[in-house]
Amino acid sequence: MGKGSGFGKVILFGEHFVVYGVPGIVSGIDSTTDAEVTKTGKELVIKDERKASKGYAEKKKLQQIESIERMLKKMGLDPKLPLKIWIGGTLPGFSGLGASAASSVAIARAIAEELSLNLTNEKVNQIAYEAEKAYAGNPSGIDNTAATYGGLLWFMKNVVGGPDIIEKLSVRKPVEIIIGSTGKVANTKAMVAGVAERKKKNPEKYDSIFKEAEKLTRAGRKALESYDLKKVGELMNKNHSLLQEIEVSSLELDLLVEIARKNGAFGAKLTGGGGGGCMTALTPSKELQEKVSSAIEKEGYKVLRTKIGIEKI
Ligand code: MEV
Repeated sequence: MGKGSGFGKVILFGEHFVVYGVPGIVSGIDSTTDAEVTKTGKELVIKDERKASKGYAEKKKLQQIESIERMLKKMGLDPKLPLKIWIGGTLPGFSGLGASAASSVAIARAIAEELSLNLTNEKVNQIAYEAEKAYAGNPSGIDNTAATYGGLLWFMKNVVGGPDIIEKLSVRKPVEIIIGSTGKVANTKAMVAGVAERKKKNPEKYDSIFKEAEKLTRAGRKALESYDLKKVGELMNKNHSLLQEIEVSSLELDLLVEIARKNGAFGAKLTGGGGGGCMTALTPSKELQEKVSSAIEKEGYKVLRTKIGIEKI
């Protein structure tokens, strides 16, 4: 049996904009998806035991099968190779936490171990990027990169082909954040396609929003590196406004963002594809993290308490 893991992630700056080459900042979190793979039987059997939002596994099933076939092909193997795959781990299957990318990285590593293939992280990342196409249509690569390497990363897609820019960032000390889930399973592929459509219809409006997004991510990097957390929070709030303007937020995401801000979060924004899924809030200190988490939980939503800037689990 082969085993493997992939990190969950939270995007602090730049989701959606990264698809078009705007830089993004992403952090691995201290939860992983784990996989075990055995080459056996006649057909693909998947046992998905992740803690998930209602309907998550069912809604993602077809995309999951496509993603595995894509990975096998990228590894030079028969896409219909009969495998028994178990998926579990501590990362909840909430949309927005990079659960699909984390599972792809975990499965790719487990397949490699089972078949004694020696894969570098770079290769694992490329394989998981292929898998992401099944879930996101036209992915930037930010999710699979975070799932492969973990840590705090600067990511810039190379839109003309060739290697993306991936740089490791560091903060003086890990910072508490919370991730609030709307409980709604989001379809990243549809969200990414929706932005593409609206951008095509409104090029001028979207160009200026995209320029603003680039400025925000660059300022976000500076603020993180100088540990100016008030500034980081302020920029996250601005990033949420831009995401509202490109119509990827939702009433529930806005509500959770509002609750977090009212309860003292330094900043809050949706994270990931939006349209449901998750939001995140910067809550430096255990006390603030607890206060914001409880306020969101009191409204009936699930919260993950974690940190950004952790090196390894
Ligand atoms: C999803 O976590 C992030 C998106 O920007 C899609 C992508 O970058 O592939 C919405």
